[in-house]
Amino acid sequence: MSRIEQLIDAMTLAEKLGQLTMTASSYTVTGPIIAGDSTDAIKAGTIGNLLNMVGAGPVREMQRLAVEESRLGIPLLIGLDIIHGHRTLFPIPLAEASSFDPQAWALTARESAKEAAADGLAMTFAPMLDVSRDPRWGRTAEGPGEDPWLAVRMAHAKVRGFQGPDLAAEDSLAAVAKHFCAYGPVMAGREYASVDISERTLREVHLPAFAAAVEAGVVAIMPAFTDLAGIPMTAHTVLLRHYLRDQLGFDGVLVSDYNAVAELIRHGVAADLPEAAAQALKAGVDIDMMADAYRRGLPVALERGLVIMEDIDESVWRVLRLKERLGLFDDPYRRGAKPETPAALADRRQLARTIASRAMVLLKNENEALPLRSAIRRLALIGPLADAPGEMRGPWGAAGVAQGQVSVLAGLRHGLAETEILHAPGVTIDGQDRAGIAEAIDLCNGADAILLCLGEAASMSGEAASRADPDLPGQQRLLAEAVFERARSRDIPVIVILFSGRPLMVSWLAAKADALLAAWFLGSEAGNAITDVVTGRVSPSGRTPITWPRALGQVPIFFGERPSGRPAHPRDHFTSKYLDIPNEPLYPFGHGLTYARFKLANLSVTPDSVTEADTIEAQVDVTNEGKCAAEETVFLFTHDKLASVARPLLELKGFAKIALRPGETGTVSISLPASDLRFLGLDLSSIFEPGEVEILVGPCADRSRLLIASIRLRA
Ligand code: NOJ
Repeated sequence: MSRIEQLIDAMTLAEKLGQLTMTASSYTVTGPIIAGDSTDAIKAGTIGNLLNMVGAGPVREMQRLAVEESRLGIPLLIGLDIIHGHRTLFPIPLAEASSFDPQAWALTARESAKEAAADGLAMTFAPMLDVSRDPRWGRTAEGPGEDPWLAVRMAHAKVRGFQGPDLAAEDSLAAVAKHFCAYGPVMAGREYASVDISERTLREVHLPAFAAAVEAGVVAIMPAFTDLAGIPMTAHTVLLRHYLRDQLGFDGVLVSDYNAVAELIRHGVAADLPEAAAQALKAGVDIDMMADAYRRGLPVALERGLVIMEDIDESVWRVLRLKERLGLFDDPYRRGAKPETPAALADRRQLARTIASRAMVLLKNENEALPLRSAIRRLALIGPLADAPGEMRGPWGAAGVAQGQVSVLAGLRHGLAETEILHAPGVTIDGQDRAGIAEAIDLCNGADAILLCLGEAASMSGEAASRADPDLPGQQRLLAEAVFERARSRDIPVIVILFSGRPLMVSWLAAKADALLAAWFLGSEAGNAITDVVTGRVSPSGRTPITWPRALGQVPIFFGERPSGRPAHPRDHFTSKYLDIPNEPLYPFGHGLTYARFKLANLSVTPDSVTEADTIEAQVDVTNEGKCAAEETVFLFTHDKLASVARPLLELKGFAKIALRPGETGTVSISLPASDLRFLGLDLSSIFEPGEVEILVGPCADRSRLLIASIRLRA
């Protein structure tokens, strides 16, 4: 008998249910229920997993109780939401996605894993792989943006990064791919609301990233809180058991979301806790996070015959197997044994700065308002986010060290030592008080440039942070309008740095600002990274991974829309358009300026006729026609114009980056396996359909800016 089988053999029902239970410690509250003291239960072996605990000392003590004082000595599995860093905070995932740099995504996950594991943790509830096409939804901040192909890359990179080459190593974490699945299209962008999408959209848009996570070896998955067309994901046997386990071969652990098992009652599919517990267990959910439904409900469910002991044993086996794979049985104190060296921490801060400087998206830059002139004497730094170190953390700040956070003010004072920096917030982020506006406006007089730091509070995105009106909150618009007026009268450029966890509805702001820099939330080194970019030490290279709508009424808006039978035509009334605004977004997916100007030419796509076994090579010449060295991102989209099922107008299939000095020309090559042109046919099975496919290459998902070639697919 294996170690696991022996243990299961020796366990009481209460001990088994303990292994299927995850309880919060009191460090941080990420849900509605606050747990009491778990110490006695850990010693009794009736709690086997913890979340929300921080600090190598406390973690070790809990582990000691389990290993040394419980009857069977089974180690605890301890997890935390390490979403974009643990102590050192990297940019939020949406910002990281903007860097279009899978190596960097893997690296920040690796570094986060090292920090978290040094604190004794063994599991992170990340990566969040939910595709989002609705900026009202606050969790847009936590994910890869709007595109399924990009989400697949993110899944690979993050799983690899968190789990490392050896899951049992002292610096590896179990990753939890979440939230399975289709959480992004919650109705009207309202958190926790119902989801109802087509089977095709589910498979084409929302499942691929999870399939990729499984392929990358993810050891745990978290079902979403939401229901899909009436079936809550926590009890979705078809998707959890048949799709994930049977079809994809996922053999890891399914851990419920916070209290989600009990919420099956409110969803209206379970009459009481035993039923809820039985449904989740039967669907394959192994760990009940924070509902205590398994411990309280499963004994009754057993009596009622809703589950049998083998169902419980199967889940216990998977949980113990994960603990084994993490090396917890061999050495439960392996993680958290060695504190990290100051040098490692310093390197990580440097990495956070580099990644942050590559995550910003320069949305607009008129008259070269950025970078700031090197001779700048006086800078007016205005806005509620200019000196807001805590906000820079963004949502899901984990155990990020608040006092180490670099604000924009601190970054600029340090990086522009010769410049006089005058600062006033003007207003608070979402307060109604306008009294400070006059003082802020006065700072503009005599300034060479104005930096206006506006946006959302960190708490306005992330979980439970839907916004029906995602414009600038509070009185910020009033402040901005006053600044623009004063600046115009004195001919001073206004550079807006916008902080948010989503695209904001800021057409009005974009029209007036000379430069608009989307900083998202950049983490620990925010202020330094922003200084690097605004001073021109780093040329911005981020590209938006999500469309910026012109108005909320356009939502959902994304580049992968399918063609209409009546495409918009300005002179034809009966076509697909709005009466009041253009169809085009404010900024398309992939948009982002640099301090250079790039020209793309000479697209070549070879061969021009392929079978499924071939690989297509696209090459394009890129010339830096600007005055600064910079990095250009080139995207490859496809469009299958005639197919048995209408294909999206653009599908992302590749991207590449190239760094060029002024005047330099380079060639970008992107390989596309022809098999990537498979799609789901009429009956939803994957097909490779002969015919012509357009290959479109360019700087963003604006068709008018793409170079186009055609290839022919042969059977
Ligand atoms: C609820 C969130 O939906 C989930 O993403 C998170 O991992 C858990 N709470 C634990 O904090």
